[in-house]
Amino acid sequence: MSSDFLCMGIESSCDDSSVALLNSQYQVQTLLTESHIKCLEPFKGVMPEVVSREHVRYLPILIDKINQTIKLEKIDLIAYTAGPGLAGSLLVGANLAHSLSLILNKPLIPVHHIAGHQLAYLIEEPALLFPCLSLVVSGGHTQLLLLKSPLHYTILGQTRDDAAGEAFDKIAKYIGLGYPGGPALASCASRGNPLAHRFSIPMFSSETLDFSFSGLKTQAIRVWDKQELSLEDFCASVEYTIVSTLVLKTKQALKKHPMIKSLLLSGGVACNLTLRTTLTDFASKKGLQIHIPSSYFCADNAAMIAAAGIYRWIHHPTAQPYTSPLIRPNWSIEAYSCL
Ligand code: KG4
Ligand code: ZN
Repeated sequence: MSSDFLCMGIESSCDDSSVALLNSQYQVQTLLTESHIKCLEPFKGVMPEVVSREHVRYLPILIDKINQTIKLEKIDLIAYTAGPGLAGSLLVGANLAHSLSLILNKPLIPVHHIAGHQLAYLIEEPALLFPCLSLVVSGGHTQLLLLKSPLHYTILGQTRDDAAGEAFDKIAKYIGLGYPGGPALASCASRGNPLAHRFSIPMFSSETLDFSFSGLKTQAIRVWDKQELSLEDFCASVEYTIVSTLVLKTKQALKKHPMIKSLLLSGGVACNLTLRTTLTDFASKKGLQIHIPSSYFCADNAAMIAAAGIYRWIHHPTAQPYTSPLIRPNWSIEAYSCL
């Protein structure tokens, strides 16, 4: 394969079907994403069988659309999300990726979804400094990681129960903001007073870098049921608590690891404006480099999967993450590391 090549990324770990084409300089040629949020509205949450069927329906359509502008024969490499995620959904993307790889006779790279979220930075900021402290916040994950290099991961802390996005979504669902309620809760929060109610910050006094958000959900339900706060003030206070928790643990991690040269924020919750600005302000005061992918690349998308596949192909060509099975629904990110 020449040094100029084209990689197709396929993402289907949860409720987005997404296909992308990136060149070997991480430039996005095409990115097509079909969200299945609408068909999940009646269920107010993810229904694994429903989203698997949506992937079966939409992934071939997206691939066909790409084929109409750039012929599939031009693809040199195929990267797909192998885990973690919903088994049925992962299987749909994995089978398509494997079939394409066989038909086109092109190499296949299984990608770790959380590595994908983090390596989205390559699309916009290829000069990130290492070691890097990475905060990944999504609907399924909340992790603080030490990255010695882009594919070398040590987990410093993670949630012991709900992920940050899950906390946003569960609280939003309780107060009737639908699914996924994170963006709706954030939108109400922008019009409220964040100090209207002081929730206790989960694991505030603890030395651990782990998170816990299930207690906040219980507190929030109790406060909401008292009907003393406006919707806006309630949402702003919840958002403030989640953001403060994330920022507090990031600060504690930096204290424990003073050699860190940069901060990276990624995952769907990184779309949250309050989190983005609070962490950016903090990094600039500290004189630390920070990168937060634009919101488009923070939510689940196939461009980040292709970017992670390209990086692995260029820098660790012989390190196969594994050969079988097709998917790893509970894949640990540390097991995906390359030295
Ligand atoms: O990374 P992602 O797209 O999917 C997973 O891998 O889980 O993250 C989705 C999560 C959902 O929980 C959603 O509510 C949350 O990201 N989210 C937000 C915002 N935008 C998306 N949470 C708070 N504020 C937002 N603006
Ligand atoms: Zn994700």
